[in-house]
Amino acid sequence: MTDTLIDQLLAEPTLDDIRNFHRKFVTGVTIVTTMDGDEPRGLALNAFSSVTLDPAMVLVCVAKSSSTHDALFSASHFAVNLLSREQLAVAKRFATKSSDKFAGLDWHEGPTGCPIIEDSCAHLEAEISMRVRTSTHTVFFGRVVHARSSDVDPLVYLGSAFFDGARLEPLTT
Ligand SMILES: Cc1cc2nc3c(=O)[nH]c(=O)nc-3n(C[C@H](O)[C@H](O)[C@H](O)COP(=O)(O)O)c2cc1C
Repeated sequence: MTDTLIDQLLAEPTLDDIRNFHRKFVTGVTIVTTMDGDEPRGLALNAFSSVTLDPAMVLVCVAKSSSTHDALFSASHFAVNLLSREQLAVAKRFATKSSDKFAGLDWHEGPTGCPIIEDSCAHLEAEISMRVRTSTHTVFFGRVVHARSSDVDPLVYLGSAFFDGARLEPLTT
């Protein structure tokens, strides 16, 4: 092995190395919502994960620079709306800082009061149990208190592009 190759192997990852890693990770697209007084608030988010199934715990990771962040931080609950293949426009709308992302959108308050977006392929509501601050983001852990899903196929996100979750080809052995 050459010295150059060894240097490359030992080098700290660059920002591009990290970005390129994440670009290979396939996710769905969620809209994380909460109420800020009477105002529905939300943002597009793919830093969502199941933490444990039993007890049912999830986490979402929200940038402190998000205008939804402070409302989430003071909320008791959040909802995770998992978008369907028909909801690309909703994903794009909630990836902006528009002041009224809910205008003209069909939604209702779920049992905890959080905004549930109609025609999402699944949604859950969680009671916030822990808020972990990092330098740029807050990780919100939540205990799932409601969850519903439908047969509608999801919107898929990979490498900054959106895909149709109904057109995935299963691999056969
Ligand atoms: C597919 C996708 C995934 C995103 N994931 C996250 C995320 O996990 N966390 C986050 O803070 N922002 C994420 N964003 C960016 C926010 O949606 C974006 O910054 C938005 O403008 C925030 O709106 P707000 O400032 O009104 O809250 C994502 C955007 C897209 C399109």
